[in-house]
Amino acid sequence: MSTTGSPAAAFLQAPARAAAAEAVADAYLATYGETPEGVWSAPGRVNLVGEHVDYTGGLCLPLALPHRTFVALSPRHDDVVRVRSAQEAGADWEGSLADVGPGSPAGWAAYVAGVPWAMGSAHGFDAVVDGHVPLGAGLSSSAALECAVAIALADLAELPTDDAGRAELAGACVQAENVVAGANTGGMDQAASLRCREGGAILLDTRDDAVVHLPLDLAGAGLALLVVDTRAVHSHSGGEYGARRADVERAARVLGVPDLRALDPADLDEALQRLAGESGGEVLQRRVRHAVTEIERVARTADLLRAGRVREVAPLLDASHESLRHDYEVSCRELDLAVDTARAAGALAARMTGGGFGGSAVALVERAAVGEVAAAVGAAFARERLRAPRFLAAQPSAGAGRDA
Ligand code: GLA
Repeated sequence: MSTTGSPAAAFLQAPARAAAAEAVADAYLATYGETPEGVWSAPGRVNLVGEHVDYTGGLCLPLALPHRTFVALSPRHDDVVRVRSAQEAGADWEGSLADVGPGSPAGWAAYVAGVPWAMGSAHGFDAVVDGHVPLGAGLSSSAALECAVAIALADLAELPTDDAGRAELAGACVQAENVVAGANTGGMDQAASLRCREGGAILLDTRDDAVVHLPLDLAGAGLALLVVDTRAVHSHSGGEYGARRADVERAARVLGVPDLRALDPADLDEALQRLAGESGGEVLQRRVRHAVTEIERVARTADLLRAGRVREVAPLLDASHESLRHDYEVSCRELDLAVDTARAAGALAARMTGGGFGGSAVALVERAAVGEVAAAVGAAFARERLRAPRFLAAQPSAGAGRDA
């Protein structure tokens, strides 16, 4: 199939915030027979670089997507939580906060009920949630859901929602995800959803959760960040994510460091030699090489963004993908195909983003070439008889906030 003959690639547009907020408020009225106390929303994220290092003290550089999850919510006087999802028809959840804890509730409700549990809330709420972050695409739809609930509860409880307050809320959302939902992920997604600002990315230091806001003027540089949702299934509660985390923790123990951030890149070769004698040492060496080089790539990318030299980050993004593909082994056939095709079609750089094993890739492309690169990726997937990928444009957007 020729690229020119293929249908236009499917782009997922984010709805206007005001319209989406109104829709979820209407759904609340239809569900509970009264208007909600308010409407809040939180975005999904895409990570520019700094992958699989947020659980080893590393640096990440995520930005918030324009695609958000909305929650219409009213507090209750008792400890009951009732929630309906526009995405999960017939799967309303109702329970008492006293019954929320490790592993309970199961399914999507964990990302809602886990948040008041982690925040130590005494009171429950009624809520309707409506998500516009594509599900299962590695774009943090679950963090968007947690963070929308967290910002709503914080606002109603008059907790601080400045950056320090948001860092606290992100911590609670991570607790909800790790303990209640049982997905042992790091903290990047929640920090991005709560702490990003429009027009920029955040440099997140996961050692102390410090955030530096960096400008990311893609349009000003004539560029766009094209996200390719490969639609290959990924899951973080699955074993591979946990296995990588275990590898990294074991390597740090063997090397006698608290985390891999503590390894100076100048000492990498020596560290790799020390791992050689361990059982499975060759695998550990590759995991460590990924983490140490990836953290350095983030630092270098951040320096370039600070200097407004956006185009020059391209080789760092490409190198990140190769490291994730060969050393960390979290890519997959669909991600590699998206990355290779995007590069061949003229992208300045491309890499997988997020947890991997499916999910999304991201490509840095000339603004004028977005449609062409997307069409080429779509055509390559069709040739390989893979599910048609979906696309979205990642403009750096605002973090969680109140809509109405
Ligand atoms: C998932 C996790 C994050 C992070 C990324 C990989 O998105 O939720 O904590 O580990 O994978 O960078």
